[in-house]
Amino acid sequence: MERKDFLKLCGGSCLGLIGISVFTESCSPTHYVQAVVNNNTIQVAKAEFIVLKNDTSNFRKYLIVKTDKLDFPIVVYRNSDTSYTALLMMCTHQGVELSVNGDILTCSAHNSEFNNKGEIIQGPADQRLRLFPVTTDEKNIYLQLF
Ligand code: FES
Repeated sequence: MERKDFLKLCGGSCLGLIGISVFTESCSPTHYVQAVVNNNTIQVAKAEFIVLKNDTSNFRKYLIVKTDKLDFPIVVYRNSDTSYTALLMMCTHQGVELSVNGDILTCSAHNSEFNNKGEIIQGPADQRLRLFPVTTDEKNIYLQLF
């Protein structure tokens, strides 16, 4: 993707969103998006997944969406341009916020682990993570909250 195309795509679809990247200890960036909920739907620009470096673009594996409407953030994994997985980052054991480490979500309270589909890898949690339906169009993805 050309830089001007990226800017056009991003500029036209970032309304109501603020994206911030934070570099973790391993220097892999975690990208946060502050989103607005409209009609129980969160809109996220696909451009939020794009990382430009030396005039080449790559895609983030995931980003984290925060909104005032939910007590916990949502991690959104990009499987392909038309396939995304959105998971509430709340441990199903006792409701502690999870951490994302690549394809694994971990709970610091009692060490439950979940994969990027929300399935349990390790207990004591005995229920999968809450999964939000996701739809897409050319420029955006839409998370249905309720
Ligand atoms: S609250 Fe997450 S494992 Fe207990």
